[in-house]
Amino acid sequence: MNERDSEMISSQLQCAGYELTDNEKIADVVILNTCSVREQAEIKALGKAGYLARRKRINPNFKIGIVGCMAENFGEKLFKLNGAIDFVIGPKRLHELVNVLESNGQSLHIGDPQRQHFSHDFDRKLGKNKCTAFLSIMHGCNMRCTYCVVPKTRGNEQYRPMEDIVGEAEFLAGNGIREITLLGQIVNNYGGRLMPMIDGKTPFVQLLERLNVLPGIERIRYMSPHPQNFSDDLILAHKNLSKLCPSVHLPIQSGSNRILAAMRRPYTSDRILTIVAKLRKAIPSVGISTDIIVGYPGETEKDFEETVALFDIAKFNMAFIFKYSPREGTRSAELVDDVEESEKERRNQILLQRVQKASLRYHQQFLGKTMEVLVEGHARRGTDMMFGWTPNHCKVLFKASENDIGKISPVQIDSSTTTILSGTVMKNAQGKSLVQR
Ligand code: 5AD
Ligand code: SF4
Repeated sequence: MNERDSEMISSQLQCAGYELTDNEKIADVVILNTCSVREQAEIKALGKAGYLARRKRINPNFKIGIVGCMAENFGEKLFKLNGAIDFVIGPKRLHELVNVLESNGQSLHIGDPQRQHFSHDFDRKLGKNKCTAFLSIMHGCNMRCTYCVVPKTRGNEQYRPMEDIVGEAEFLAGNGIREITLLGQIVNNYGGRLMPMIDGKTPFVQLLERLNVLPGIERIRYMSPHPQNFSDDLILAHKNLSKLCPSVHLPIQSGSNRILAAMRRPYTSDRILTIVAKLRKAIPSVGISTDIIVGYPGETEKDFEETVALFDIAKFNMAFIFKYSPREGTRSAELVDDVEESEKERRNQILLQRVQKASLRYHQQFLGKTMEVLVEGHARRGTDMMFGWTPNHCKVLFKASENDIGKISPVQIDSSTTTILSGTVMKNAQGKSLVQR
């Protein structure tokens, strides 16, 4: 979501006549788009702002902005922590950026704006050779998971009209984008109770169906769904919609029912296992990944063992594992953060090993097979190795040329590690890739 917001920031500024540079040292303005989900990310952003402040002593016209969730979370306090910061803009007011930049003196823009804008209210400036894009379908979150700062920084759920989303997808398709990733805090809540179910299908699945028939768009992904509303229509959509990729990132947070209840996550480990089993039955090669928090207040060894047991059954082929970090203003911040850092790290390592084992196994099933890979770019600068992703979200390295970017190529898989596959592009007698869409 931050990546999409950053793209919107740069599009907005380019439309206003600013130029983007990849050399921070010559920039007149540096904007840090921040994350508040964990404390570590905030510490890093403050460190970077401190480093930038030194430049201001040499060039007083140089501007520093802090935007995003940390801006919302810290507010005025940021100016006290670092007097060199010029402006602070929360995620709901990013559209005010150009006006803010044109004014002088320190300024704070947080809280709800008079009118909520969506990022797509601005022309998109897509980078050169881009074939994938994020597409926001909603903002905010109505859940109140005890550990999470997002509802505080991004506000309540708001859905974008379906027509607008489809319109933006058409625009993206017309500008070389082959793969779209629908974004929202809980994408499968899209439409909430404001949009009706049709033929037993949720608004989210209705949206997927509309996008599935758009010419030019070859792949559709989404991030992230919530286990609570992961309904059968969505599982069926995975089976029936040809462009919907067989890959699901399903954040579960814990495998212990006691901890899930403490976190106010409204489901049990059985529910997760049911979703995983149904998905694997519908598409046997589906990739399933997750988010987990280790060391939530009061998480005992037994609770943790339940998460390990769930991992052993679910066999997630990828997981983001986070050590619990108390966030001011959340409910769990009032609890004692009683799991030692070293114990959080131990639990983190145990789960990482489980995931690596599952991921290696998952990857090995594709050895010798030919997979469709969307060629995204150079693997490393100055080499002819390119990288791309399979529909089930495996990263693949292979030899190809820059002209292949944006094409879906058949790649025969020769080797695999826990994180990546390598292979050879299959060509026919005319030297054309076997799969051309
Ligand atoms: N501490 C650690 N991890 C967190 N996450 C959210 N809040 C916290 C927190 N306070 C993780 C969750 C979420 C992901 C984006 O970040 O796993 O799914
Ligand atoms: Fe945060 Fe929970 Fe909403 Fe996800 S569902 S953004 S974890 S409050």
